[in-house]
Amino acid sequence: MAPMTTWASNTDGTVSDEEIAYYRLRAQDVGLVITGCTHVHENGVGFTGEFAAHDDSFIPSLKNLAAAAKSGGAPAILQIFHAGVKTRPDLVPEIVAASAVTGDAGPFAPAMTPRAMDEAEILDVIRSFGETTRRAIEAGFDGVELHGAHGFLLQNFLSPHFNIRQDRWGGSLEGRMRFPIAVVQEVNRVIEEHADRPFALGYRISLEESHEDGLRLNESMQFVDRLVETGITYLHASLGNALEDRPIGDDEGRTLVDIVSGHLGARIPMIAAGQIRTPKEAESAIAAGLSLVAVGQGLVMNPDWLLLARTQQEKHISLDIAASDVSRIAIPPKLWKEIEGTVGWFNVRAS
Ligand SMILES: Cc1cc2nc3c(=O)[nH]c(=O)nc-3n(C[C@H](O)[C@H](O)[C@H](O)COP(=O)(O)O)c2cc1C
Repeated sequence: MAPMTTWASNTDGTVSDEEIAYYRLRAQDVGLVITGCTHVHENGVGFTGEFAAHDDSFIPSLKNLAAAAKSGGAPAILQIFHAGVKTRPDLVPEIVAASAVTGDAGPFAPAMTPRAMDEAEILDVIRSFGETTRRAIEAGFDGVELHGAHGFLLQNFLSPHFNIRQDRWGGSLEGRMRFPIAVVQEVNRVIEEHADRPFALGYRISLEESHEDGLRLNESMQFVDRLVETGITYLHASLGNALEDRPIGDDEGRTLVDIVSGHLGARIPMIAAGQIRTPKEAESAIAAGLSLVAVGQGLVMNPDWLLLARTQQEKHISLDIAASDVSRIAIPPKLWKEIEGTVGWFNVRAS
């Protein structure tokens, strides 16, 4: 199950009953559940109704989520992040990121110009990633996934477009890698200190950015090598289309999955998500080099996607969704509002 925000936590940041029902229904047959993202610091909230994990008071709430996500027997990973330049202005007093470079307006957050973080704030957020990992261990999760994709803080630091710092946290690729790598080191330190069982550390990445001076594959691959050397359990690429995406400027060559999985070789497993809707597509993605396929919208629309796939009932897998489906498949009303209101995202049927 791909990491998916539900917009539906309680107003105090605890996981709601609706979210629990949503996860329970989808967790029954999948091989691994990755939760929607949760902020490690109170100034890094990316979505309304995003459940919180930045304080020990949220451990009981996280325990409920871990139990629901694991209720089908699969392990569960908590996705943790700081929203950086994409932090929502209505949810925090001030937006901070790597540099004061204006973000891009998206469907879920306006374009904002953040304040560049100072050294003490950077160290504080690194520690916060560690603290949230400790809470994930205590809550019963089987790992954490660092959300280094989609233009949030970890990516802001890596990006030549969003990171124009002159200090040790910016400049060359070496400088731009320093923050995400320091987070990986801190999370590993916490796992070493607190986990009494195998505990995974995944890293989700957007391999390229669309800006002319944005991140490109050659730097991402160097970063991936550094992640592997530093110690991650798996790499998770977030792609628009896992079977088709190719590097920017190359419409005909090898796909990103082929290139990156080939580059990783047997070092660590690779997961990717992106438009995998049918069992056939999932099989093609595995054949193309993935170790695991993450299914997002497919599972939102079909909580029993895996069961339908296993029992050769692909013709019953829905590729679209209507308001009349929502309560049957336990979609929280706030998630449905986002799905319905975001044009060009899901295939929404009239009835
Ligand atoms: C409702 C919804 C919420 C999402 N929230 C997150 C999130 O919290 N973290 C994340 O890394 N990706 C998030 N994504 C992206 C998915 O994990 C996935 O990469 C994307 O939907 C493409 O896969 P798909 O075509 O199978 O849906 C979200 C996607 C959807 C549909």
